[in-house]
Amino acid sequence: MKRRIGILTSGGDCPGLNATIRGVAKACYEKFGDDVEIIGIHDGYFGLINGLCKEMNQSDFSGILTTGGTIFGTKRTPFKMMQVIEDDKVDKVKAMKATYKKQKLDCLLTLGGNGTHKTANLLSSEGLNVIGLPKTIDNDIWGTSVTFGFHTAVDTATDVIDRLHSTANSHGRILVAEIMGNKAGWLTLYSGIAGGADMIVIPEIPYDIEKLAAACERRDSKGFSIMAVAEGAFDKEEAKMKKKERAKLRAEQGITTATARIAKQIEQMTGRETRVCIPGHMLRGGSPSAYDRVLATKFGVHAAELVAKEKYGYAVAMIKEVVSENKLEDVAGKTKFVPEDDQMVKYAKALGVSFGDK
Ligand code: F6P
Repeated sequence: MKRRIGILTSGGDCPGLNATIRGVAKACYEKFGDDVEIIGIHDGYFGLINGLCKEMNQSDFSGILTTGGTIFGTKRTPFKMMQVIEDDKVDKVKAMKATYKKQKLDCLLTLGGNGTHKTANLLSSEGLNVIGLPKTIDNDIWGTSVTFGFHTAVDTATDVIDRLHSTANSHGRILVAEIMGNKAGWLTLYSGIAGGADMIVIPEIPYDIEKLAAACERRDSKGFSIMAVAEGAFDKEEAKMKKKERAKLRAEQGITTATARIAKQIEQMTGRETRVCIPGHMLRGGSPSAYDRVLATKFGVHAAELVAKEKYGYAVAMIKEVVSENKLEDVAGKTKFVPEDDQMVKYAKALGVSFGDK
């Protein structure tokens, strides 16, 4: 009996998607030989809704280990772009189930982040055989210590921070790097430490601008400071507000992220020239690092093993340094934040790095 395996990538892309797809495909061809057919679904769940499917050849998976992006294309989850009208959701689920049936799929592998896992769980609860694989530069998927794409982004962000040192030093300036990561601070924390940032500001530790300014002043003899600020950061006052109130306040202040406000306030408070650097989507681009290629390969092979065991309704994960899996229903709808007692935060504080809290 031929197994038909559908694969899609959904949500924001990241380095390592193609390496994971390759890992799944190669392991499946090794395991099942001619008894497997891989169906590439284009543009994520949008493609599943609209039937954008293509039967792949073994050769399609060659030469993609090192490439960035995704050979299947991606879109944000189908329920994010628009107001969720219940009927609309029902119709979309119906359409996805119809494509799954029409393509005679035995299972569907979804490579993505939190939104992707939520939809994967929804489809699983509707009776489809689904396996999720954890992708994101944000490293914020619950139940896995690491996601593929994260370490490449850490390397890129670290390179950005490294490059800010010499120019900040030459001019005696404060340089503020805004790092992606959505609502979580993992990417800023790791690249901030790796890049030797003097201040690290993350959403999990709301900042006090006075404390950040004081930390800059303490370094004044050095003449420059490097601050790594997560795009999702907010100050202690904003931390008490609801999302809508915060958005309203920021609109009044004419800012969207905390970074611009921090830079402006720090310049006023310290009298030092302050500049902002936003690497943005550069953090999602390029070839996966060696670490991510290895991780992607492990996750891909593990997913193929789950297919062989017909173990569906699971999300591949790294648990205590062993590749394993969690139930999709346990992962869906959750976010993994930097915990208050995180070791990396402690190590950074031990070095004198300011998080703007004390
Ligand atoms: O989830 C990955 C991520 O790059 C986040 O860090 C960032 O907030 C978001 O996606 C940006 O999304 P988009 O590519 O849709 O602008």
